[in-house]
Amino acid sequence: MTTIGIIGAGEVGSQLARAAVAHDHHVVIANSRGPETLKGLVTELGPAARAATAAGAAAAGDFVIIAVPLKPVNDMPAEQLAGKIVLDTNNYMPWRDGHFPAVDSGEKTVHELRQEQLPDAKIAKAFTHIQAPRLFLSASPPGTPGRHALSVSSDHPEAVELVTRLYDTFGFDTVDNSPLSESWRSGPGQPAWRAHAHQTREQLAAHLADARRIPYPVRG
Ligand SMILES: NC(=O)c1ccc[n+]([C@@H]2O[C@H](COP(=O)([O-])OP(=O)(O)OC[C@H]3O[C@@H](n4cnc5c(N)ncnc54)[C@H](OP(=O)(O)O)[C@@H]3O)[C@@H](O)[C@H]2O)c1
Repeated sequence: MTTIGIIGAGEVGSQLARAAVAHDHHVVIANSRGPETLKGLVTELGPAARAATAAGAAAAGDFVIIAVPLKPVNDMPAEQLAGKIVLDTNNYMPWRDGHFPAVDSGEKTVHELRQEQLPDAKIAKAFTHIQAPRLFLSASPPGTPGRHALSVSSDHPEAVELVTRLYDTFGFDTVDNSPLSESWRSGPGQPAWRAHAHQTREQLAAHLADARRIPYPVRG
């Protein structure tokens, strides 16, 4: 049975934990305030889940999800994440997190910056254009006509493979939008992001192709 480390227990981290447990995975989940503040969530998730520090969740996970906004200075446990596939749900929202000049100029994507902060991890951008409640509401079994699709971007093919399998298990098709330098195509304000989880594989591929560079993301 796979153990997923989840760093971030807000809207996305907690909902990904619910999906993981519903699909028979173990979960070790962390926030910034400490495991004792996650008692309610862990009770709700049941015996397949426990709370830990961020370093503990990173160490325990066969792979790890970061559901925490990117900060200018790394606040993730780099040592415990080394060598692991790390799914990053972060969206670039300068009105929330402040500006990253290299992202605004188009030189880098936020996920390339995360990869630079965690050079020994294998970063994949995942679960970024689906609102947390839709993780269950938009899911359907493989082969369902009109099944919804999500994008993944990574510089590591094994990370794309893992996310593709996880998406399929959770109820979604995949469009590979690699490498990380292309991940701006699914960012806030872009057609793929505005369509959220309401797009088939073909529609998502078309939306990714329709993306246009914008100075920095706009709300909506
Ligand atoms: N909300 C959505 O539907 C959605 C969908 C797709 C992608 N996203 C993206 O996913 C990211 C997370 O979004 P969210 O809505 O889940 O945010 P959120 O509700 O604000 O939750 C953020 C979580 O990160 C934790 N955290 C912050 N710094 C940390 C640190 N250094 N170590 C460990 N945990 C830390 C917070 O813990 P404390 O509460 O203890 O501080 C909190 O549990 C964002 O970049 C967002 O844009 C969100």
